[in-house]
Amino acid sequence: MRARKLSIFANFTFSVLLLYLLYIESPKSTLYDNNLPFKPNVPLPRPYGPMSSSCNINSVVDSEHKEKELDPLLPPRKASKNQRIDWFRRKLPELEILKSTTKSKSFHTRVLDLYNKNCSAQFFMIWLSPANSFGPREMLAIDTLFTTNPGACLAILSNSLDSPNGYTILKPLFDQGFNLIAVTIDIPFLVKNTPAEAWLKRLKSGNMDPGSIPLFMNLSDLTRLAVLYKYGGVYLDTDIIFLNDMTGLRNAIGAQSSDPATKRWTRLNNAVMVFDIYHPLMREFLQEYATTFDGNKWGYNSPYLVSRVIKRLGNKPGYNNLTIFSPDAFYPVNWIKIQKLFKKPATTREAKWVEKTVQDMNKGSYMIHLWNKVTRKIKIEEGSVMHTLVSTHCTVCGNITNSHI
Ligand SMILES: *[C@@H]1O[C@H](CO)[C@@H](O)[C@H](O)[C@H]1NC(C)=O
Ligand SMILES: *[C@@H]1O[C@H](CO)[C@@H](O)[C@H](O)[C@H]1NC(C)=O
Ligand SMILES: *[C@@H]1O[C@H](CO)[C@@H](O)[C@H](O)[C@H]1NC(C)=O
Ligand SMILES: *[C@@H]1O[C@H](CO)[C@@H](O)[C@H](O)[C@H]1NC(C)=O
Repeated sequence: MRARKLSIFANFTFSVLLLYLLYIESPKSTLYDNNLPFKPNVPLPRPYGPMSSSCNINSVVDSEHKEKELDPLLPPRKASKNQRIDWFRRKLPELEILKSTTKSKSFHTRVLDLYNKNCSAQFFMIWLSPANSFGPREMLAIDTLFTTNPGACLAILSNSLDSPNGYTILKPLFDQGFNLIAVTIDIPFLVKNTPAEAWLKRLKSGNMDPGSIPLFMNLSDLTRLAVLYKYGGVYLDTDIIFLNDMTGLRNAIGAQSSDPATKRWTRLNNAVMVFDIYHPLMREFLQEYATTFDGNKWGYNSPYLVSRVIKRLGNKPGYNNLTIFSPDAFYPVNWIKIQKLFKKPATTREAKWVEKTVQDMNKGSYMIHLWNKVTRKIKIEEGSVMHTLVSTHCTVCGNITNSHI
């Protein structure tokens, strides 16, 4: 009985998730009217040969890391606006993440120290969840990133991973000599002298409705914009498998969907963004973030924001130094179809399909975004597309199996 209830609940949760994703995905405004050059994907170099054939991927990805700590940034469910504001006022003094602390004040120095390591590219990721929920999927993201982008530097902006526990979790990667740091975020410093400074001030005054969406999502959206604006480089989500060297990309963003007839983009995504320091478009994103913040609509500040701003600016001089990549580049499979990539082929026909898909992705994609909300719990079966790609694009995944589970 209990099991049945649980499974009903799981189904319910999944349906809600699907509805949400449908909502995010549905192309509300197809861009027939924009003039942006929707440049085709540039040809990619040949992929690397197999690097490791002994990766035990199933066990890497199967383990579930239970979140033991409560996330302090989740407003109470079903609270009214006034209740949320009250909740937030009470929470504010505890929210370290919004403050400059002794530890976070070394943010700038630590990022610059990393960049002194002759980086081929400067990558950023953000991890605002507890360290213990940084699991095998995230390890695979970082492993494949360094494996396919030689000489890269990566700063993971994370208060939880910048700790002895975080060090233990990331140790297999440190052991490889990758140029990697986990660094405590200084949000007040990051937004200083940007359009988002006023937003943070309002938020900290306690007079703002934090919305019904976990605040850490907003902070993740804000932080990625602010860090790219102030440092330049590449922002990446943590649910990605990297396939090809992207260190040569400049000022680029990817479409997650396009119109099959016109080939124009219909929705951009902010899971991957490459921008030079002080890019005017990034300033515009921050401005948009600060002025149109709507905490109750999923995605309003995320994929919608970059799509909205780029659509509005069109090809305006000063803002148009940007390449918009077709979905193949960063999002070759949408969230509806992605489950198929995890399945072992059952027939010769399916095996051919796996082979062809692996070839196409190795040739035409920089990475695969895994839509973790949908795929986090799906097992990577041996012989599947994912299994093949992961085992040929990772260095330490075997070690991760040994030392991380
Ligand atoms: C920096 O890296 C480049 C290749 O990315 C290399 O050619 C160069 O020698 C390196 N410089 C130093 C000082 O290590
Ligand atoms: C967080 O973002 C959501 C939209 O994604 C918005 O509705 C909400 O107001 C934001 N929260 C704050 C405190 O700005
Ligand atoms: C556009 O960006 C590229 C890459 O950063 C840069 O080399 C070029 O000078 C920029 N062009 C303009 C007109 O700003
Ligand atoms: C991790 O694996 C690499 C080869 O893949 C090996 O050289 C290294 O010694 C291993 N490290 C540990 C700690 O097992």
